[in-house]
Amino acid sequence: MDTLVVERSDPLTGSIGVSGAKNAALPIMAACLLTEEESVIEGAPRVTDVLTMAEILRTLGAEVSWPRPPSGLVIRPDDYSGWTAPYELVRLMRASVCVLGPLLAKHGRARVSLPGGCVIGPRPIDLHLKGLQALGAAIAIEHGDILAQAERLTGATIHLAGPSGSSVLATDNVMMAATLADGITVIESAACEPEVVDLANCLIAMGARISGHGTPRIQIEGVARLRGARWRVIPDRIETGTLMIAAAMTGGDVRIDGAVPEHLGALIDALRQARATVELLPGALRVAANGCLKGVEITTLPFPGFPTDLQAQMMALMAVSEGVSLVAEKIYPERFQHVPELRRMGASITRDGAHAIVKGVARLSGAPVKASDLRASAALLLAGLVADNHTVLEGLEHLDRGYERLEEKLSMLGARIHRERERS
Ligand code: EPU
Repeated sequence: MDTLVVERSDPLTGSIGVSGAKNAALPIMAACLLTEEESVIEGAPRVTDVLTMAEILRTLGAEVSWPRPPSGLVIRPDDYSGWTAPYELVRLMRASVCVLGPLLAKHGRARVSLPGGCVIGPRPIDLHLKGLQALGAAIAIEHGDILAQAERLTGATIHLAGPSGSSVLATDNVMMAATLADGITVIESAACEPEVVDLANCLIAMGARISGHGTPRIQIEGVARLRGARWRVIPDRIETGTLMIAAAMTGGDVRIDGAVPEHLGALIDALRQARATVELLPGALRVAANGCLKGVEITTLPFPGFPTDLQAQMMALMAVSEGVSLVAEKIYPERFQHVPELRRMGASITRDGAHAIVKGVARLSGAPVKASDLRASAALLLAGLVADNHTVLEGLEHLDRGYERLEEKLSMLGARIHRERERS
């Protein structure tokens, strides 16, 4: 098992570029199944989730190749005939479910293993199924698989709100299926996340007729066929945010090239309240702090609210900020696996259901810690940068699912991190 050894580091300084967004690349890869023509996706990050999605597309019969940059990820579905996404792959990544809509729209049938439990809490897929049923699909759960069938999909008006508001991948799934349905589909309470907008724009480049993306009401007019496209995914706002928090926590001064400030309004606001400086530059963001941060209050919400995918990293910052900070997790009320590990590093955090109270401490102390999910792993890595001595982080398979070369990027800014490879 590989580990990361993180030493207390000097303030991070310098410039760094941000990778393409994993959560935009994954549904866009699935969208390539809506055409038989070749598509090229530029800027997809080389992370395990993207490799898993490539494997799923191959299982379905598509040709996927990924020459080294600057070439993009090339997807050639030709006349692929597979319609089953197997458990061995789906269990690795819940986002696999976003092949459901494209398969159903293109082939009239799809079998996708039902994603199982998830460490960040219950993650139902009822909204995906409700949306596809509204388009005319018959859905059954058989032997742990979702089996969806429809001779023809027909446009409909669908309300996609769940108890926690909109759903990103359910919006993606229904939007993709509706591109080839007869007539007009209206998605009400649609997710407004930048990744949904990126998918819609990619689908439009493929010939889809979509309007209203980026608002809670998306309208899709079905077309007979889509063509292949060359598409560059948006920069990863969660990686950007992680780097911004790292810069602020270490009292550093970092310029993040490629950052899109409009995607990060809630974080920018929270960091400024915490007394960090955030400067918007053309095509970049600069984050600086003088080492004396103040506690803040955040509530995770669908976009443009504070992203749940930055909650853990922000909690690491709160752990060393003066005074009391409050976290309300409204998307995944169980997403607090990082709390006991941060406590092992000396953080003072009290959890009460979906809330956490963090009392800032002067110093964290390095410890062996274990990551349980992608964003928790990033939070522990950031905590290690400001902890005494060294922190040994286990569970790197989570970090590698979604961050492209994070430790290398942080090292380029002066962080003292190295990966110890397991000897075989
Ligand atoms: N929900 C339902 N029913 C559904 C689907 C979702 O009730 O059918 C609930 C969820 O339980 C949750 C809320 O709706 O409370 C929002 O979940 P959403 O469906 O939006 O999540 P997702 O689409 O499965 C994406 C990201 C996650 C990110 C969430 C929220 C991808 C591949 N994944 O998941 O990313 O946390 O949106 O923004 O885009 C990550 O990258 O670390 C990650 C977990």
